[in-house]
Amino acid sequence: SAGVCRTADGALALAGHDLRAIAQIYGTPAYLVDVADARARARAYRDAFRSAFDKVGAPADVYYAGKAFLCTAMARLVHDEGLRLDVCSGGELAVARRAGIPGELIGLHGNNKSTDEINAALDYGVGRIVLDSFEEIDRVAAAAAERDVIAPVMIRVKAGVEAHTHEFIATAHEDQKFGFSLTDGQVGEAITRVLEAPNRLRLLGFHSHIGSQIFESDGFRVAAQRLIELQLQVAREHGVQLPELDLGGGFGIAYLPTDDPLAPQDMADQLARIVADACSAAGMPVPRVSVEPGRSIIGPAGMTLYTVGTVKPVRVDDDLVRTYVAVDGGMSDNPRPVLYDAQYYCELADRTSEAAPVLARVVGKHCESGDIVVRDVELPGDVHAGDLIAVGATGAYCRSLASTYNHVPRPPVLAVTKEKVTTWLRRETIDDLLALEGNEQ
Ligand code: LLP
Repeated sequence: SAGVCRTADGALALAGHDLRAIAQIYGTPAYLVDVADARARARAYRDAFRSAFDKVGAPADVYYAGKAFLCTAMARLVHDEGLRLDVCSGGELAVARRAGIPGELIGLHGNNKSTDEINAALDYGVGRIVLDSFEEIDRVAAAAAERDVIAPVMIRVKAGVEAHTHEFIATAHEDQKFGFSLTDGQVGEAITRVLEAPNRLRLLGFHSHIGSQIFESDGFRVAAQRLIELQLQVAREHGVQLPELDLGGGFGIAYLPTDDPLAPQDMADQLARIVADACSAAGMPVPRVSVEPGRSIIGPAGMTLYTVGTVKPVRVDDDLVRTYVAVDGGMSDNPRPVLYDAQYYCELADRTSEAAPVLARVVGKHCESGDIVVRDVELPGDVHAGDLIAVGATGAYCRSLASTYNHVPRPPVLAVTKEKVTTWLRRETIDDLLALEGNEQ
């Protein structure tokens, strides 16, 4: 993150705090959040989208996708910076509620929302529920009827875009679970059903999320054009001008020093142009546009601090020795390498070294050979037990995807500012895990 530098004697520091001291006080592994960096990113997206869409005469809202990382303090941070919040479960909604985020600033997602989740969202007065199935249209309408309210909804559409990203994080092609299909009349049927319940459902517009870790705006162009065509169709067939359009999230970040993502302003300018052009081609006013970035706000602001426990040179073949550096966490605190073959970058955090670099693989402590933290990285040849390793860009989809595999408790999330280090989430303990057990012992 932006707040990282080296101390005079070579240790890494975050916002001026020596990582050796943080490790000493809080233990490792630990997730660290550079609060100033997270704030700056949240603000940058808000400002970029406002100004870009202002130029094409439309308002724009940025929803922070809480699935990337959420706790009460994080919800408040994005709210303070003028963002709204996208939640996709009753649990995330509960965090938003605890943080005091006003209901109208919250959007509820999910491809299989439970009745309890729908009820909780309506009781809290969320600003939108994104509908993902026919069953859900009926469930939301029924829950709205019970409460005698009109639920504001969007319809999630499979925009039919092949985002060039990992299969498991691409979400707009046909053969996957999210959204209504454009090709077999599902969307048309969903529109009709929603519009047939005007005293229960108010259709705001269409939503599409094409995938994650996207580096250019082409996929968004195709999605926006298709959604705007749909809006035109609704205007023609039903005489209704839908006021909103949501393009989802997915803006890519740098995991490796060589990655080169679009700056928020560039992404915003390109999307504004894309939407404005599509609307003018369709002869429609530009609707209120929203986006839902998660990773690009919190990802680069986070890092994980580990302690090295063992160092094992392994002869791979005649020419290659790989140094396996095992740290005190792994796939339980960051399952992304094993799930998506995700790449990370790390550095020695407690010192610099003049030792010749070796080809290293940073691995975890779990009972699987796929338990890799950083697949290939050069580390100083004298890396040894007790060294600290900092892995960058772990703010998104690490704590939120963490497990307690092998009964390894989940690390704390420490918020670091110039003034102080505070605990956003405490370290889980083995007692926390044992406390889940029932009476049969
Ligand atoms: N909106 C919707 C409807 C989404 O499904 C997602 C992500 C986002 C927004 C935020 O996307 P972002 O800007 O954070 O890329 N666990 C995977 C990512 C799964 C993303 C799921 N949906 C990973 O670690 O790469």
